[in-house]
Amino acid sequence: MARRFLVTSGLPYSNGRLHVGHLAGAYLPADIFVRYLRSKGEDVLFVCGSDDNGVASLMSARKEGVPVQDLVTRYNAFQKEDFSRVGVEFDVYGGTHHPDFVEMHERISQGFFRSIHEKGFFEKKTSKQLYDVEAKQFLPDRYVEGTCPNCGNPDAHGDQCDRCGSTYDQIELIDPKSTVTGTTPELRETTHWYLRLGEFETPLREWLEAKREPHGDQPAWRDTVLNFALGQIKQGLPERAMTRDLHWGVPVPLDDPDAEGKVLYVWFDAPIGYVSFTAQHCADHGGDWKEYERWWKDSETRIVHFIGEDNTVFHALTWPAMMQAEGSYQLPAQVVANSFLNVKLGDTEEKFSKSRGNAVWLGEFLNEFDPDPLRYYLTAIAPESARTAFDLADLVQRNNSELLGALGNYVNRTLTFLQRFYEGVVPEVGERDERDLAQLARVAETQASMEKNLDAYRFKAALGDLMALARETNAYFNDKEPWKVRKTDPAAGGTILNVCAQTVKGLAVLMAPFLPYSAEVTREMLALPEGSLRWQDATVELPSGHVLGEPRLLFRQYELSEEQPTD
Ligand code: 2FM
Ligand code: ZN
Repeated sequence: MARRFLVTSGLPYSNGRLHVGHLAGAYLPADIFVRYLRSKGEDVLFVCGSDDNGVASLMSARKEGVPVQDLVTRYNAFQKEDFSRVGVEFDVYGGTHHPDFVEMHERISQGFFRSIHEKGFFEKKTSKQLYDVEAKQFLPDRYVEGTCPNCGNPDAHGDQCDRCGSTYDQIELIDPKSTVTGTTPELRETTHWYLRLGEFETPLREWLEAKREPHGDQPAWRDTVLNFALGQIKQGLPERAMTRDLHWGVPVPLDDPDAEGKVLYVWFDAPIGYVSFTAQHCADHGGDWKEYERWWKDSETRIVHFIGEDNTVFHALTWPAMMQAEGSYQLPAQVVANSFLNVKLGDTEEKFSKSRGNAVWLGEFLNEFDPDPLRYYLTAIAPESARTAFDLADLVQRNNSELLGALGNYVNRTLTFLQRFYEGVVPEVGERDERDLAQLARVAETQASMEKNLDAYRFKAALGDLMALARETNAYFNDKEPWKVRKTDPAAGGTILNVCAQTVKGLAVLMAPFLPYSAEVTREMLALPEGSLRWQDATVELPSGHVLGEPRLLFRQYELSEEQPTD
């Protein structure tokens, strides 16, 4: 029986292009996981899209002097293109204000809000909020900056601090400044709906504590996620406003004069985007949008969220609290958070930042490099438990010595050897000696180990297993010296090359989640039908006499040049 997985990647704000740090955090690991599940034949839906609402988009639109709708639709299209070029294959890529999704998104977000409202988990409250007199507007979220009340970061946003990850009410900000006019805002009264997060402290704590252990087929959650979330609960979860004074977003769906001119807080509607994109996908493939319930409300589904570390508070606390308050949803089975990826420039490591101009833009990078070397490198240095740094020189070096030098070299030498000396056909198997059998067993062992690691969301370790196999297989080829044996004993040479061909097939299956383009080329070189790289077939042998395709090079050699993208 296939298992059912609903996998999401954090919705990128649609006010900018994607850089390699984004890819490493929430998208590439999710794509690897999904490809692995698909190749095993599991029932999986991979959902993402852009986070279009809220102040981030409004600010960028104002800066660019374009209507906000145009801006978000344009960046949504760029993102889609960048993801597709790097092989991140979502089943659906929506947008919370995208013309094809906005109606469904409003319907489901408003229903969600109303349902929480009816259950009495909101408190309607009039309080003082920051108001920009010059701009004549309240200053929600990113419209105000100041010093974080928790860690003292002087560049904290109005709702969240990027340095310490905490969230707070904007009036707690120290020395607030309007990002619209640069003036110091004043306090004015306004009414909002606050989610009583405090009521969920106990259920959230119990739910999270249980994630310290494996549960069902899921491994324990990463300590970084649990420690952060449980630490926040220990400090107490204050109520948080889930509405904003803004004209861009999902209108507050209440028949109440105080709701006028107000929208849902972007962090309320964004995670609901996962749901509404699922519903739109169901509507577009089969007709019934309500099918989304099978993915979101049925206990058979494992909901897995991949996110960057700065999204932990929302995915491990606020969103599950919203789901509990709403009452009909399944809680996430996993929240896989990665740390930030920094960038290494000379001897220093910096955060990727648009303003510092050090970001390695995905689109530009892919104009110079193939996608698989990037996927390889970002997985090999994945910031799974701590921050790591992207270093272009290191990428080039590892591409040349590992991908090309070990994996590509092995596949290539095997296939060209078969082409030259065995007429491009998988040779007959004679008697296999211990070394041959051990080599074939290594494929099965590698697969088992990768499976364990992938099931536990340890992508770096799984890739390590794959590359160890590639190295050992080169050693097998070297030690067996088929170039000598074939001359003295062609049948024995054939047996060696048969083992080598079986190993290429195994490698093709096992590399596919990580290096999908190279796996496809290998499949073509093996003359296997499309869609045949199924996980369970890694050790199913190619029959003797199987006619192979033309060998080609799997990887290119790169050299660092001045023009390349980190400059
Ligand atoms: O941090 C971000 O980029 C947010 N736009 C992520 C949203 S994730 C989700 F909940 F939608
Ligand atoms: Zn802080």
